Amino acid sequence: MSSIVSNSDLLQCAVSAARAAGNHALENSSRRREVSEKSQHDVKLALDRECQQKAEQVIQSAFREHKILGEEWGFYHEGDEHLWIIDPIDGTVNFMHGLPFWCSSIAVRHRGEIVAGAVYLPAMKECYTATADSPAFCNDEPIHVSDVEQLEDALVLGGLSKHLGKDNSTLDTFIAMSQRAQKSRLMGAAAVDLCNVACGRADGYFESMIHLWDIAAGGLIVQRAGGKAEVLEQIGDVSFRYLCSNGRVHGEMKEILVSTLGGEG
Ligand code: IPD
Repeated sequence: MSSIVSNSDLLQCAVSAARAAGNHALENSSRRREVSEKSQHDVKLALDRECQQKAEQVIQSAFREHKILGEEWGFYHEGDEHLWIIDPIDGTVNFMHGLPFWCSSIAVRHRGEIVAGAVYLPAMKECYTATADSPAFCNDEPIHVSDVEQLEDALVLGGLSKHLGKDNSTLDTFIAMSQRAQKSRLMGAAAVDLCNVACGRADGYFESMIHLWDIAAGGLIVQRAGGKAEVLEQIGDVSFRYLCSNGRVHGEMKEILVSTLGGEG
């Protein structure tokens, strides 16, 4: 295929890849407890790897020359022309236990900018999409962030560090956020959280250490739904302190994150 490719072509492929990965997980959910690697507070499933393969097959059959970075394997080079960023199962622990909050997330980066993203939630039958030059959609219906103005009226979502015990600052942030927001929730799948912000069910999302594959597609979807996504601090090549919101409660959330975790003010 030609190297000049539209964002909507990229999105179409991202949706197919996300559906291939997500449907493989759903169809094989009787195998959801097949563990390939276990660590404290986390797990890798046989299906994580199989689902990444399913997504890659779709991408490679359309864009053979494009590079791929997945949660399960792949390489990241700053200078890649096109980079596909895959989380085959985001919310792996939810999926393993049978909670429906998990998804397959696929984003496409072109010359350093995320230009297309698809997040597919098989168990909820929802597919969120956006490109850098189009609005955000859920199942082809336009979506928009909430108009909640103040943190005291906001529902905020977040994630806890996998390194609890060694670094509990993420708990301090969660407590401080919970004291100021109407409610805070830990749902266990960052890309799903971002889509919930994008469609106005939640007003903000924060995490102190999150990977590129968890936020690449969802972050674009939030922005194209009228919200704001911000890297507060880059921790490694592909990991960040991250905040996104409806834009209106962003300042209040950022103040709490900066005062409890540090990072750029
Ligand atoms: C995890 C989920 C979780 C977040 C973690 C992520 P995974 O992704 O998104 O909500 O708190 O930081 O690693 O491992 O299920 O793909």
